Amino acid sequence: MNKQRDFDAVAASWDEEPRRVKLAGEIADAIRGGLPLSAEWEAMDFGCGTGLVTLRLAPYLRSILAVDSSRGMLDRLDAKILAAGVPNIRTLMTEQLFEKPSAARFHLITSAMTLHHIQEIVPLLRSFHALLHPGGYVVLPDLEAEDGTFHEDPTGVFHHGFSREGLAELLRQAGFSSIAVSSVTEITKGERRFPVLLAIAAE
Ligand SMILES: C[S@@+](CC[C@H](N)C(=O)[O-])C[C@H]1O[C@@H](n2cnc3c(N)ncnc32)[C@H](O)[C@@H]1O
Repeated sequence: MNKQRDFDAVAASWDEEPRRVKLAGEIADAIRGGLPLSAEWEAMDFGCGTGLVTLRLAPYLRSILAVDSSRGMLDRLDAKILAAGVPNIRTLMTEQLFEKPSAARFHLITSAMTLHHIQEIVPLLRSFHALLHPGGYVVLPDLEAEDGTFHEDPTGVFHHGFSREGLAELLRQAGFSSIAVSSVTEITKGERRFPVLLAIAAE
């Protein structure tokens, strides 16, 4: 059985990899370009990590709940929030979002480069669906189907990316109706290029 990756162990150096910072910027730009973000919107960023995407979206939203299962990653984000005085991001540590019904509702739920680390995706997407306001959006930037060489360490990698149709089908199974999957960018690793998809679906 594939166990979880230890993100705590890599949290301190996570942001030192330039391609992660570049990717987060491209993802945030694509989200801003694809959706009418509003200062009235409350959002959740699931699998927020050190907040590379969260912090770029925060100025365009009323609030973001930044959720992650790694204390180490969230500690990095908490430190950035404190240092920059960001008023509208709260952090929450949990990995069992879908097992804990919540009264909170969001206009937008993002989850960047996290889905491939989730074994059972449809229950998580169903919980996203239940947590959205009517007409709310889920946005999933993640790897397009790859040959398993993206991660040097396969620990905690449950999916080698997603095909466009496969990602759309997971969203349909979770109850989403209006679904669009497009290309957002490519990640370059040495000689290899790994395309990144962006799925946007409405509640
Ligand atoms: C590849 S990182 C992406 C971080 C961030 N979204 C970004 O784009 O920089 C994946 C993140 O998902 C988190 N994660 C993995 N499984 C999770 C789960 N079941 N619940 C919450 N977070 C999870 C990890 O701790 C990690 O911070």
